Amino acid sequence: MVMSARQFYSGNDGSTDWVRESEFFAKLKMRNGTFKLTQPSRFRELETAFRPLLSQRATQLREVLDVGVSTGVTTVELLRYLEACGANPKITATDLFIDAHIVEVAPGVRVLADPEGWPLQYDVAGLAIRPWIRRLDYVSLAFIPRHLAKSMLQPRLRALIRSGRSEPVQMITRSLSRDDSIAFVEDDIMRRSPDFAGRFDLVRAANILNRSYFSAAQIRSAVSNIRSYLSGAGSLLIVTRTNEKGENGGTLFEVGAGGTFTVLMRVGSGSEVEDLILGCPAP
Ligand SMILES: C[S@@+](CC[C@H](N)C(=O)[O-])C[C@H]1O[C@@H](n2cnc3c(N)ncnc32)[C@H](O)[C@@H]1O
Repeated sequence: MVMSARQFYSGNDGSTDWVRESEFFAKLKMRNGTFKLTQPSRFRELETAFRPLLSQRATQLREVLDVGVSTGVTTVELLRYLEACGANPKITATDLFIDAHIVEVAPGVRVLADPEGWPLQYDVAGLAIRPWIRRLDYVSLAFIPRHLAKSMLQPRLRALIRSGRSEPVQMITRSLSRDDSIAFVEDDIMRRSPDFAGRFDLVRAANILNRSYFSAAQIRSAVSNIRSYLSGAGSLLIVTRTNEKGENGGTLFEVGAGGTFTVLMRVGSGSEVEDLILGCPAP
């Protein structure tokens, strides 16, 4: 049985059950129709390939940005990996959806919702119920109560959240320990964030800049934002994608003296958006 948000967030005792954590997050459907899906230990071959170069540059890697992190499981691994390479970085981890709220709407009835009141999970007396509708629900007519519940609840949830009558939580992994220097921030990679300008020595974009998900124009715009977040010549960008077989391809780029990207290293056939990155002009 999937954990309720209440159980998940109250059990934060430092112990981590990967399977239960992934089950919990995988059932949360975001406002844009995506689920919180990621997997631990998915980047082994990339880590092995990039290790010598990142170890050489370890002292330079002070501020790192990881974009599109989902629950951040792989960000925690990135921190451990960079530490093993000899770096001591502060990581900023971003995603479109990080913040959520647990709202009690009636005695024994709680809803996990995003800041706009979009329901992510109902909890009725400890039983976790999904608010989203799947195809079978149209056959069994279960879509009717689900649809009604969502449309009636959303304005109320939003109002309760705005008036502070909710418990704020973050949809992030429990494998994070108190001492880890990772800050999770909601951010849309398609919009330029002035706070990030010129700050980062390394940016990683894993399983986000995909042609199947974004148009070339959107990827160009995301890359241009990322370029503006990098600290200048010598700063690094890692762009990777995991295929259906679980294999990773990716490219490690460096910002050259002229301010544009050059390729330092490829794994597999490299990043599928390499041409768009190499074509990104200097800011
Ligand atoms: C497949 S997950 C990748 C998670 C992790 N990087 C990995 O490789 O395991 C893609 C993530 O990108 C996030 N995402 C999608 N569009 C985004 C955007 N415009 N800005 C920031 N994050 C976005 C999604 O919410 C999702 O959590």
